[in-house]
Amino acid sequence: MAESKTIGTLIAWAQQSLDQAGTGNAAQETLWLLANALGLESHHLASKAEQPVSAEVWARVGSLVSRRVAREPLQYILGTQEFCGLEFHVSPAVLIPRPETELLVQEVVRGGGLNKDAVLVDVGTGSGCVAITLATILNRTRILAMDHSPEALAVAKNNAQRHAVDDKIDWMEGDLLSPLREREMAGAVDVIVSNPPYIAEVDWADLQPEVRLFEPRLALIGGQKGTEFHERLLQDSREFLVPGGLLVMEIGQGQASALRRTAEQVGGYAALQVVEDAAGIERVVIAQRLG
Ligand SMILES: C[S@@+](CC[C@H](N)C(=O)[O-])C[C@H]1O[C@@H](n2cnc3c(N)ncnc32)[C@H](O)[C@@H]1O
Repeated sequence: MAESKTIGTLIAWAQQSLDQAGTGNAAQETLWLLANALGLESHHLASKAEQPVSAEVWARVGSLVSRRVAREPLQYILGTQEFCGLEFHVSPAVLIPRPETELLVQEVVRGGGLNKDAVLVDVGTGSGCVAITLATILNRTRILAMDHSPEALAVAKNNAQRHAVDDKIDWMEGDLLSPLREREMAGAVDVIVSNPPYIAEVDWADLQPEVRLFEPRLALIGGQKGTEFHERLLQDSREFLVPGGLLVMEIGQGQASALRRTAEQVGGYAALQVVEDAAGIERVVIAQRLG
């Protein structure tokens, strides 16, 4: 290795290290890590295979590769994740936005009936991906984004600046809907959207290491059953939604029927609508406040 340190040998070494660690998708991840370390586009790497690399570059790539070998998510290493076509900064303070959450955004835009005077609340905003994407689409809707984690809110605000919508979103720290109570917003909200933590305690040990060891537990665990946050939101949202207003929530696989029963028990909503994702999994529930 000492005689011929080139981009080509670096790629081969990095890919083999990731393969051995069982990270999956080693070839593609190698290109992304190298492109990031070298400041190049990943598709330019193949044509530069013969180019020599310095010991300093080799060490820089080596440190990124060791983080990935330890199963740190690629997104935390690179610092970004794409969501709805926008690039979001991510750190271990926030959940990495998932593709299935794009359905939540689509359902709000489809069913929200949002007009210029509408008020929309994103509960558990994390990186801000839902609130910020909606702010780029809905020009005049007032958006309030809330989270219990001040560290997550700092990341979200940074992302809002990045997408030039920071003046369109109010950020609030607190437990679920409690910040709305402080602002006396009873009966004033058109849509409450949330991707709350929804993994059951019992499933924690089975999560892949990337999730279990690196993503914030506060963003993942919903409680013993996993549906505790949804239940609280169904209970508490009635106070804040206008008649006809919507509570739109992402759910985990197999949680829809329990939440249908909760919505009936709690009362005050029309029959729960359930929307499947592209894989046919029940992924979003929509509860409409009766007027
Ligand atoms: C599943 S993550 C969703 C993040 C982001 N909305 C997304 O879809 O990628 C859940 C978020 O809820 C926040 N959270 C957890 N418990 C909370 C609580 N009691 N009140 C408000 N937010 C909470 C977490 O900090 C985390 O950012």
